[in-house]
Amino acid sequence: MFETLKAAPADAILGLIAEHRNDPRPEKIDLGVGVFRTAEGETPVLDVVKLAEQRLVDTQASKAYIGTAGDPDFNAAMQELTFADSVDADRLVTIQAPGGSGSLRVAASLILRARPNAKVWVSDPTWANHIPLLGGAGLELATHPYYDAKKHVIKVDEMLDTLSKVDKGDIVLLHACCHNPSGVDPSEDEWRAIADVIVERDLVPFVDMAYQGFARSLTDDAFIVRHLAARVPEMIVSNSCSKNFGLYRDRVGSLSVLAPDQASRDIVNSQMNNVVRTIYSVPPDHGAVVVAMILGDPDLKAAWRVELAEMRGRLREMREMLHDALKTKAPEHDFSHLVRAVGMFCFLGISEEQVNRLKKEYGVYMVGSSRINTAGITAHNVNYLADSIAATL
Ligand code: LMR
Repeated sequence: MFETLKAAPADAILGLIAEHRNDPRPEKIDLGVGVFRTAEGETPVLDVVKLAEQRLVDTQASKAYIGTAGDPDFNAAMQELTFADSVDADRLVTIQAPGGSGSLRVAASLILRARPNAKVWVSDPTWANHIPLLGGAGLELATHPYYDAKKHVIKVDEMLDTLSKVDKGDIVLLHACCHNPSGVDPSEDEWRAIADVIVERDLVPFVDMAYQGFARSLTDDAFIVRHLAARVPEMIVSNSCSKNFGLYRDRVGSLSVLAPDQASRDIVNSQMNNVVRTIYSVPPDHGAVVVAMILGDPDLKAAWRVELAEMRGRLREMREMLHDALKTKAPEHDFSHLVRAVGMFCFLGISEEQVNRLKKEYGVYMVGSSRINTAGITAHNVNYLADSIAATL
């Protein structure tokens, strides 16, 4: 039967990991997949995670299944981190999921069960895996304007105009913060205007929060989630702990649903757990218990916040450093959008052909759209990077 298959294309983001690894040039730079890196170019386990893991090894008495919803302490802590006191907890349910992607996948099945004909509106552009993941699950997707690639700003009027015309009851996928790939988030006023359209059109917000704490702060980055929770009857939120806890390969995320009342919340809860059973049965435990330990212990939580702030600060510094280097090496080009962006990513704003030249001629790897992971920049490589970019302009 397998003779009917053709090889699948390499993943636009994950494919770069192997390409970069196999490049023998010592000066190569990886600005591809979104993982945090230190000034030494490493992605270490957070100190606070190591501490919690040690406690877990010392105290965990069983590896028996914990159930489709995962760890109750983790779910409660993630719900609190996401919604704070913005809405009555009786209307909320949160389950553990295998990373942000696992959460999105469960959400997709839930949407298909609840409103199979709804379209899911995503920003143009959006994370390269949103459309394959949600579309692959069977959802119909459409895009709304978002990023102006020339001016490097949000096309907020066009976005509002499109959303104000979509069918009532459709779903709109929002990036809570650190928009991936552009790094450009709506201002609080713009978020309010987006929320107004969502309320007016009876749209269901589906918020992907993969970078909480990477833009401004844990609280500021949850602004749109909490603002909407106070205004809408129904909402879906997918969280990832890959970036803010550095737990990428342990696959830790959560899925929360806000329902109109407790009775419908309980029905949604039963459906979510039923979906989980039909996909991966039960989520992986280790990373989620680590997160639950950190969020449940004031000292560990404080230590985590410090490490998170350090990661956030480094991302900002690296964007500024590349911007300053490009100002010197390519003074006729404006890269000021680099320092206006937030979080891990931004567009360099060069063509796909220039991206390919950077890869072939200089060993500089980034996504074809010219999205860069600013964590890949270091004081050591920034001059080579800026020289390479300048040479391809
Ligand atoms: C990214 O956008 O690079 C990350 O979210 C990793 C991934 O899975 O694509």
